[in-house]
Amino acid sequence: MKIVVVNDYEDLSVKAAKVMLEVVRENPYAVLGLATGTTPLGLYAYLIADHEKHGTSYAHIRTANLDEYKGLPASHEQSYAYFMKKNLFDGLDIDPENTNIENGMAADEQKECARYDALLEQLPRDIQLLGLGSNGHIAFNEPGTPFGSGTHVVSLAESTVKDNARLFSDISEVPRKAFTMGIRQIMQAKKILILASGANKADAVYKMAKGEVTEDVPASVLQLHPDCILIADKAAASKL
Ligand code: GLP
Repeated sequence: MKIVVVNDYEDLSVKAAKVMLEVVRENPYAVLGLATGTTPLGLYAYLIADHEKHGTSYAHIRTANLDEYKGLPASHEQSYAYFMKKNLFDGLDIDPENTNIENGMAADEQKECARYDALLEQLPRDIQLLGLGSNGHIAFNEPGTPFGSGTHVVSLAESTVKDNARLFSDISEVPRKAFTMGIRQIMQAKKILILASGANKADAVYKMAKGEVTEDVPASVLQLHPDCILIADKAAASKL
């Protein structure tokens, strides 16, 4: 794992945008694996600013998102589909038809997981962007998830529900279940870019980058990827 430590969140966003833009400019038909959460917001703002200023086009870019809350429709303000539309896709010239995410409202969970698995097979990702859960999760692959997992439905860890409650008006509104891309599929990406910001991520960053590779810390699997870059600000990297 290549580790890049930067001063602050602003630097992190600039550096992350550079890495993503390299992929997009090199291949206008690239497939991007995308993530939600607060960490990639700065990066997404830079991608939009670059598109407006330099005209970098996403007309032929395809995307696959990591995860979606179960029970939230794409029109729900807290759904990840809505997040992506509002914070990235609406600001680019991307064709909504080329963007993909699990359907949180799918009546048949197994069928939806199989649909997404098949789709990911057709969409080998040139780069996979990741955030990091404070308990070491990636996407919604919580501690204990087998490294060989494909798309599945998870019951969220209590710590994840608490972490994500800040984005809802009340913790009781946070869905307890979610669809998530599996660890096997995350690892299939040609390149992985993981971002971590803030002191509350310092333990998870240490365990991910320097700890034992174990299913108890899902992000530790990234030590086995041949082209993984971690960009962490000083606070998140403080225990390295
Ligand atoms: C959620 C998402 C993850 C994300 C994590 C960290 O649980 N499913 O994909 O990486 O939160 O979020 P944040 O970037 O807001 O700290």
